[in-house]
Amino acid sequence: MKYDPAGLKGRVAVVTGGGRGIGKAISAKLADAGAKVVVADVDEDSARQTAKELAGLSGDVIGSFVDVAQEESVSSLMKIALETFGRIDILVNNAGIMFRTRLMDISLDEWERTLQINLTGVFLCTKAVLPIMKESGFGRIVNISSSAGRSVSTLGGAHYTASKAGLLGLTRAAAKEMAPLGITVNAICPGLIETKMAMETTTPEELQKFLDSFPIPRLGSPEEIGHLVHFLCTDEAAYITGASLDINGGDLMI
Ligand SMILES: NC(=O)c1ccc[n+]([C@@H]2O[C@H](COP(=O)([O-])OP(=O)(O)OC[C@H]3O[C@@H](n4cnc5c(N)ncnc54)[C@H](O)[C@@H]3O)[C@@H](O)[C@H]2O)c1
Repeated sequence: MKYDPAGLKGRVAVVTGGGRGIGKAISAKLADAGAKVVVADVDEDSARQTAKELAGLSGDVIGSFVDVAQEESVSSLMKIALETFGRIDILVNNAGIMFRTRLMDISLDEWERTLQINLTGVFLCTKAVLPIMKESGFGRIVNISSSAGRSVSTLGGAHYTASKAGLLGLTRAAAKEMAPLGITVNAICPGLIETKMAMETTTPEELQKFLDSFPIPRLGSPEEIGHLVHFLCTDEAAYITGASLDINGGDLMI
């Protein structure tokens, strides 16, 4: 399949957790492909800084605050996106948090916080864009789950695994309901990717042990996730929906 560098021209994308890491690389890839991008993050400074950095690429990029766990915050984000760019075609639900706490020590508060951001946040963002996508008859929703959702997290606790597994269920249910409206909904399940989330929660020795056990013995890059998200957002990916796509160097083969 030929790569069309302007394949997303005219499309408008909202990327949550876009201020750094995987979300930043996804925002860059979509902007590079011609999309107008709203980089949304609870860390507003990082969202604005990333938007500034990406402004040199072909699309228009703005940074905006969002706390995906708060319904009002999510609806003002979508309002800003609509007021600025006039439409929303692509939603990438990437914002997420991870704690390594073991099951016996997980407080109810930490459990609820993880579920609220990693799962309820995706529900809130998805619900907010559906009427907009329904009206235009086109939509691409990409949910960033994890290998954790397909098996058990390498680093994260039970709350992280549960939230990412739940996200795969939400992806399938939404895909089935939204297919007749021209909206596809897919999940990407990354293995260990080189971002602050992975690097700050592990030691170099522990990391090396993981890498040595992978068939492709290295960390994945945020850009590799960006490429896959980009493909799912193109017209060529119109027949893919409800899928959970693994990208993990062969760490998990199912
Ligand atoms: N790095 C990995 O190894 C890995 C592997 C599998 C899946 N993932 C998933 O990929 C996604 C991105 O992870 P990353 O490694 O880039 O992490 P990261 O911590 O580097 O970035 C996460 C971003 O989400 C933002 N965020 C957190 N809570 C938010 C909220 N309530 N509202 C809006 N934004 C919020 C943060 O400010 C940050 O900018 C996450 O969903 C994560 O679970 C990461």
